Amino acid sequence: MSDEPKVVLSETRGAVALLTINRPEKRNALNGQVRCALLGALDAAARDQAVRVIVITGAGDKAFVAGADIAEFEGRTPVDQYRVMKQPSVYDAIERLSKPVIAAINGFCLGGGMELALACDIRVASSVAKFGQPEVNLGIIPGGGGTQRLPRVVGLGAAARMILTGDLIDAAEAHRIGLIEEITAPDALMARAMAIAETIASKSPVAVSAAKEAVRAALSLPLAEGLKLETALFQLCFASEDKVEGVRAFLEKRAATFPGR
Ligand code: COA
Repeated sequence: MSDEPKVVLSETRGAVALLTINRPEKRNALNGQVRCALLGALDAAARDQAVRVIVITGAGDKAFVAGADIAEFEGRTPVDQYRVMKQPSVYDAIERLSKPVIAAINGFCLGGGMELALACDIRVASSVAKFGQPEVNLGIIPGGGGTQRLPRVVGLGAAARMILTGDLIDAAEAHRIGLIEEITAPDALMARAMAIAETIASKSPVAVSAAKEAVRAALSLPLAEGLKLETALFQLCFASEDKVEGVRAFLEKRAATFPGR
């Protein structure tokens, strides 16, 4: 057993898995070890039947994630980088996960940290959080999906301004451009992220998964194909015990208890 602190802390609170990236002394920068641990924690949360929603945050009061670990870039050849990028991606893993993932952004959210937040389904941020894609300062561009996901979330102009200038924006500006869904006081962030998670966790897991898949598809599919997928997933819900229970509970004027099947 190693005495080294875990780089990703994993804790289950009711139906919510809270994953905390834990390298505060390096502003929670994503190195190979963090990526690997995060993939493992996401996989465990995906398999755990009791977990219905995942919240990701950063340790300490300074950073959510201050980007990829820049120290790893030094001396790295294109072939090294090619091999690194052939590893499973945390961004894709979050998107593919059938359970919703909420980013609780407690501080600097830069580069790969932005890309991590963008891969999540919902972003809630502390009023002191700062956001940016500062890769141009290093002579590189976003490589974790930032050039594709950011324009889809905030539009082309706002994305181009962030990616081309590398300038940081504050939480109020991030909210104004639609990068984050909510701003909270710093000490209210986790309670708010957990409250949203618990609300989602109280709904039908079948419906929530189908809804995540359908909403996600809106970013990648043409309208006609997206509508077809929505129809197919809507019909799938009719095969679930959750739908039987949800409709019956409404008609019987009581709260539904969803079996998740
Ligand atoms: N990769 C590697 N190390 C990082 C890092 C990153 N992305 N971000 C911060 N760190 C390290 C610093 O090197 C420093 O290490 P040290 O104590 O061993 O010198 C430590 O974290 C604290 O950083 P510091 O700059 O002193 O903290 P700060 O609170 O004054 O500033 C930031 C925080 C995030 C604004 C600043 O660290 C920064 O600009 N980081 C780089 C952001 C970036 O370019 N990200 C995109 C990467 S592709």
